[in-house]
Amino acid sequence: MLCREGHCRKLKTLRTVPKETFCGQEENGKDHIKVSTSTTGDNIAPNMTMAPSLAGIWKNELGSILSIDEHDGNLFEGTYLTAVKSEETEDDIKLSDIVGFQQQDNSFTFGFTVRWSFSDSVTVFTGQYFPDSENGEILETMWLIRSNVDNHSKDWEATTVGKNTFVRWSLDKCSPEIVEMFTKRKN
Ligand code: BTN
Repeated sequence: MLCREGHCRKLKTLRTVPKETFCGQEENGKDHIKVSTSTTGDNIAPNMTMAPSLAGIWKNELGSILSIDEHDGNLFEGTYLTAVKSEETEDDIKLSDIVGFQQQDNSFTFGFTVRWSFSDSVTVFTGQYFPDSENGEILETMWLIRSNVDNHSKDWEATTVGKNTFVRWSLDKCSPEIVEMFTKRKN
């Protein structure tokens, strides 16, 4: 079965893996992404996998929206619209830029940094992509948010840790205001 959403990179099969590639739950119940091989006829190791495309819209359990731009290599960029902010942050929430890396073949891990455009803090997220029988595709992440403190003696209270799960989303499911924000940034 091919990936229904079309997010997986489609690959050509040489001989050690089945022809089709997919994202999602495998028929035998194992969650993994089958992939492929080179188009040049080189031999490949069995079970070789290729990192999935993270590009697109994702939403976490807080209602925050992450948009990752289409990218060719491991480096990616995008934008983040958080649904919540820290108590100390007075300014209104605005779209913020992200930059990140995903790992190479055989690894579905990634990390990205958000420079909040409306606060003096920075958040780093790290996580892994998983096919998911319920949501199609998910990103399990952990984050650290670093707030700016006035002096070194407050360093101990400057960092908070947490966890977010993102599910594959689409702008069609977002309000017109959110769609406008993301669309404006692209143009
Ligand atoms: C700030 O308040 O200084 C910036 C916004 C921080 C939002 C945090 S980052 C981790 C967590 N996940 C989200 O989607 N939002 C919060």
